[in-house]
Amino acid sequence: MPGRIPENILEEILNRLDIVEVISGYIPLKKAGRNFKANCPFHHEKTPSFMVSPDRQIYHCFGCGESGNAFKFLMRYERMEFVEAVEALARKTGVNLPEDEKRDHKAEGLVTQLYKANELAALFYEENLKGAAGVGARNYLLSRGIKEETIKLFKLGFAVDRWDGLITYMRQRDVPLSILEKAGLILAKDSGGYYDRFRSRIIFPVFDIKSRVIGFGARVMDETLPKYINSPETPIYIKGNNLYGMHLAKDAIRDTDCVAIVEGYLDFIIPYQEGQLNIVASLGTALTQPQARLIKRYTHNVVMLYDSDLAGQLATMRSLDIFIEEGMSVKVVCLPEGLDPDLFVRKNGFLGLKEKIDKAESLFEYKIGILRARYNAKEIEGKSKIAHEMLSSINKLSNAVLRSEYIKLLADELEIKEEALLEDLKDFKKEPHSALTEHPQAQRKLPAINPTEKLLLNLMLEENDLISQIKENLEPADFQDERIWRIASLIFDFVAQGKEVKTNNLLNYIDDEIASEVVCESALPNETNFEDKEKIVIDCVRRMKIHRLKNERQLLHDKISVAQKSGDEEKLQGLMLQFHELIKKR
Ligand code: GTP
Ligand code: MN
Repeated sequence: MPGRIPENILEEILNRLDIVEVISGYIPLKKAGRNFKANCPFHHEKTPSFMVSPDRQIYHCFGCGESGNAFKFLMRYERMEFVEAVEALARKTGVNLPEDEKRDHKAEGLVTQLYKANELAALFYEENLKGAAGVGARNYLLSRGIKEETIKLFKLGFAVDRWDGLITYMRQRDVPLSILEKAGLILAKDSGGYYDRFRSRIIFPVFDIKSRVIGFGARVMDETLPKYINSPETPIYIKGNNLYGMHLAKDAIRDTDCVAIVEGYLDFIIPYQEGQLNIVASLGTALTQPQARLIKRYTHNVVMLYDSDLAGQLATMRSLDIFIEEGMSVKVVCLPEGLDPDLFVRKNGFLGLKEKIDKAESLFEYKIGILRARYNAKEIEGKSKIAHEMLSSINKLSNAVLRSEYIKLLADELEIKEEALLEDLKDFKKEPHSALTEHPQAQRKLPAINPTEKLLLNLMLEENDLISQIKENLEPADFQDERIWRIASLIFDFVAQGKEVKTNNLLNYIDDEIASEVVCESALPNETNFEDKEKIVIDCVRRMKIHRLKNERQLLHDKISVAQKSGDEEKLQGLMLQFHELIKKR
């Protein structure tokens, strides 16, 4: 983790918090000796191999290798950037970050250029909407019930009916066309040159949680198809990671501890304008796990407000499972046929929508309603289909009490025996939870660590007093495992600077995934109560020296064979001399 924020501040934050408390805010931890354990949240498993150490203030999964300190946990679990995680924990612990340190000091890389290009493009579209060319677009927005101040708040705009409107604007401002292309704002022509992606359309900028413009949606003002043209995915716009409107809604979501999820831009904007402040839009159809986790930062309670047509139903059903797998509570609002949230609010007002949300159906009621409409619950065949689809969702509930309650309910609904459903449920148990197995980290990748060196590292982290003794007796070539040597030298540096060596702080200086995994794996087994640690150190050092000698001897041996075969007498003499000296050393 690169130190854009001074290390002493990172240390101050880590010193003030308890990683056990941080992680148990997300997953249940069980005491296991001096550590805590849980089923790993980063890969699918049935027996817990995820350990949290209060002594070391780190976590480590012996299954998938995911490991680190509290910052890393937030980065991985909440998908935060490093600086975001530091900011979050700084707030939690009351540590002040120096103002400039919060900002990105990185040289202006591609990402920064993309943000700037988007920002400028949004400004261009906004200006167009205000000008003479935007009269039609303004009228269109007004006809849809969007107010002046809402246009401003959402930075709505208009793309003029020209092939090079944006290109000309950006040329005058020295923005390279290659950046505009990477931002998805312009497209390359077969004949060479570029043209604007968005033409003669209303522009909806898409913001990330920090209110930066990351992409655009562009809607026609009539019935032409396609209705929307959207930005493609770019390095700063990963669609499944973002939710439209989160930058405005997040406080209201936290305060009300609930969020309404809709599909479209207008389904967001109109209800928001009328007072439904805890709302976000998915902009596509199916919700993703990262989106569910983004919401989970603010609330566990979700109300889905998708269209009641078939596409909407299918999208809702898929999304239900994503939320269940994340352990969130999800309800569904059924709007009258043909009314989406936008039209519903225009007809029934904010209070009408609020009433609907307050009366939202549970996922169980909703799903069984849909299935009853699809299959005939009076026939055996239909019953079995309904049971199967319901069980697939019920199986994903992590709460056992809830699971068994739903099984009872389902048995009543379908007039079948609970035992039969429980029997069927067993088949599902074998299926791993899809959201978890999709994770790339599921496979272990760390090459084995030399056990002696691992033990030595463990001792250094446990007893800082031993470090100088180790430093005096070992040199780089004594280490088999180059990774351990690099970590050991970092520890020696700590000591030289008069700093206490704590595992969680050490990790702030290591930006290499593998190295940080080596540290955590070596640091964790601290159950051992060695009687005489100094003696063990001596033992480890001796074993490492012997190992090194053996290796060197083998190497010389090989060289000697080569020299013998090639008949190089002079070289052979030299090598033999070295060999005898080596033997003496032993
Ligand atoms: P209105 O028809 O103006 O009310 O739009 P809406 O924002 O309510 O959108 P709708 O509910 O029809 O669609 C939901 C979302 O799906 C939109 O916000 C778009 O993100 C996306 N979408 C809709 N139509 C299209 C399309 O034709 N092409 C693409 N790529 N996306 C679309
Ligand atoms: Mn709509």
